[in-house]
Amino acid sequence: MNPLKRLDRRRASVLSLVAATVLVTPGTAIGAPDAVKASTLGAQAAQSGRYFGTAVAAGRLGDGTYTGILNREFNSVTPENEMKWDTTEPSRGSFNFGPADQIANRAQARGQRLRGHTLVWHSQLPNWVRSIRDANTLRGVMNNHITTLMNRYKGRIHSWDVVNEAFADGGSGQHRSSVFQNLLGDGFIEQAFRTARSADPSAKLCYNDYSIENWSDAKTQGVYRMVRDFKARGVPIDCVGLQSHFGAGGPPASFQTTLSNFAALGVDVQITELDIAQASPTAYANTVRACMNVARCTGITVWGIRDSDSWRSGENPLLFDRNGNKKSAYNAVLTTLGGTPAAPRGTTDAAAELQ
Ligand code: XIL
Repeated sequence: MNPLKRLDRRRASVLSLVAATVLVTPGTAIGAPDAVKASTLGAQAAQSGRYFGTAVAAGRLGDGTYTGILNREFNSVTPENEMKWDTTEPSRGSFNFGPADQIANRAQARGQRLRGHTLVWHSQLPNWVRSIRDANTLRGVMNNHITTLMNRYKGRIHSWDVVNEAFADGGSGQHRSSVFQNLLGDGFIEQAFRTARSADPSAKLCYNDYSIENWSDAKTQGVYRMVRDFKARGVPIDCVGLQSHFGAGGPPASFQTTLSNFAALGVDVQITELDIAQASPTAYANTVRACMNVARCTGITVWGIRDSDSWRSGENPLLFDRNGNKKSAYNAVLTTLGGTPAAPRGTTDAAAELQ
């Protein structure tokens, strides 16, 4: 076909799509012919093959404002506490999947993807594990915990945080003290990842931590060396999760460098628990831009929906205010993902948008 005709046909089909979009969703702005823009975070992130997720608390699923935003905006979900050890295996060998199932089933019914958080972590760990004194017992308990959780959600979780926060703060670049480290030694992380790969070969296996966003920090360097070593020796690891709990200034200047340096090792990177004190739009935009600029940055999760849902609620660090209204950081994120913020209600003028 003559290329001009093809272009005309393409334009015509885009215009009819545009017209349909305007009819169905007032306030949706019109993008360039080959990039019709979305008006929600998840849909916009999906246009570049990424996800945009949130932490979800089972206890809030009865709140209609909360679920309204959850259903509308996000295409990935991380249980905020419900898959942690103290909830899932409160006593040895006795598993409780009620709250995690609630979140997982709901997400699946709505076509949202699921992140698993987290299998091996020194915190929110029941006392019966913390007080184990024998390495063989602990190894068996750890492997059984990983295998049981991964089997339960097999095929339903796109990425699992296999090990969370194993590195120490400060300048050592070494692992922190924990029952796992103290009894099993440095090899406990490798052991956890090998067990995880056998349990669910299709899930991406992530190492997740905070304060690993600034490239020159000893903690970042320590995690980088571990991932490089795992890749060199064939220890299964597929992704690094950067929690990204930022202060008011947002990400460090080197954030994108850190993301691309990890990615260059042959792993995906994901921003897994994003929140920023006071939620400056610029700080949010800088964070999202860094991810957009790195091909292997496959998704972003914010750590809660409204400020009132946040574990840092005093710092108002999220994208929606206590009433569920979009904050200016929301618009900054949507724009940086490549979308266009919806016009405020009542001001939509489809004719003006079509210009
Ligand atoms: C937090 C939850 O948001 C809180 O509800 C809970 O009381 C404590 O844990 N790093 C992590 C997350 O990996 O699991 C933590 O979540 C925040 C820090």
